Amino acid sequence: MPRLIHLSDLHFGAHDPRLVEGVERKVKEAAPDLVVISGDFTQRARTEQFQDACRFLERLRDAGHEVLAVPGNHDVPLYDVFRRFLSPLTRYMRYIDDTLCPLQEIPGATVLGINTARSLTFKDGRISEEQMTFIRQTFDRTDPQATRILVTHHPLFALQVGEGMTPAVGRSELALDAIGDAGVDMLLAGHNHHASIHNARELVTRAGPSLVIQAGTATSTRVREQQQSFNRIDIDGPRVTVTVESWNGSDFVAKDAQPYERDVDHWHLAAARADEPAH
Ligand SMILES: [Fe+2]
Ligand SMILES: [Fe+2]
Repeated sequence: MPRLIHLSDLHFGAHDPRLVEGVERKVKEAAPDLVVISGDFTQRARTEQFQDACRFLERLRDAGHEVLAVPGNHDVPLYDVFRRFLSPLTRYMRYIDDTLCPLQEIPGATVLGINTARSLTFKDGRISEEQMTFIRQTFDRTDPQATRILVTHHPLFALQVGEGMTPAVGRSELALDAIGDAGVDMLLAGHNHHASIHNARELVTRAGPSLVIQAGTATSTRVREQQQSFNRIDIDGPRVTVTVESWNGSDFVAKDAQPYERDVDHWHLAAARADEPAH
C-alpha cells in the first residue's frame, strides 16, 4: 500500500526553520515510499536559497527517503533578466534535480512530474504540446494496474481560494485531454498555498476521473487563508486516503483523514475505516 508525502511551496529564503524541522520530523515518522515536492523550492531563485533547499533534500535522502520534485515559478529568476530568459532553470537543475520530467515507479503507483514554470508567463505556468505527448507516451508504457499520478506546480484547474478564483495553468483544456487519455488517477499540485481536494469532474465537466489534490505551503511564512500544511496520501487500490497535516504554531497535526473511493469514472468521499486516523 503506497504512501506518499506531498510537500509544496517550501520557499527557502522566506521560510520558517521551525516548520522545516517539523516537516522533517513528520516525514521520518510517516516513513513514506515517496516524498513528492510540487515546486517553489525558493523565494527568489537565489543561489543561497537553492543551497538551503538542496541541504533539505540531502537530509531527506540521507534519512532514506525517495524524492520526486518539479520546479515552481519562484524557482525561475524574476529580476535577473539574463538568467530568466537564457538559463531559467540552471540553478534548479544544479541544486535540486537535473531532470525536469522525473518518473518514479513504486509498487502500486507510477508518479510523473512535469515542469509548468516558464520565463515569459512568470506567475502563471503552462503545459506544452510536447509535454502532453510525453504524458500520454509515458503512462502508455507503465504498469496499467498501478495508480497513475501526475505532479505539476501549477494547478490544472481554476480553484476557489477565499473569496476569489485562482487561474488554471495555460493550455489546461488541452492538458485535460492528455490526462484523460493517459488514465491519470490523481493530480498533485501546489502554487496557491491552499490545501484542498476535489473531484476533477466537479471542476470541469469534460475532465477525466482524476482526484485533484492541492498542497498548502509546507514551510513558507506567506500563507493564504490557511496555516502551513502538507499532505499524507495513502493509496490502497481504488481507495485513496488524504490526511492534511496542518501547523498549529508548534507542530504539524493531522486533520481528519479523507478517504476517497473510485468507481468506474468517478471519485467519491467514502466512509472512514476504523484503522484510519481521525482527530
Ligand atoms: Fe508558492
Ligand atoms: Fe508558485
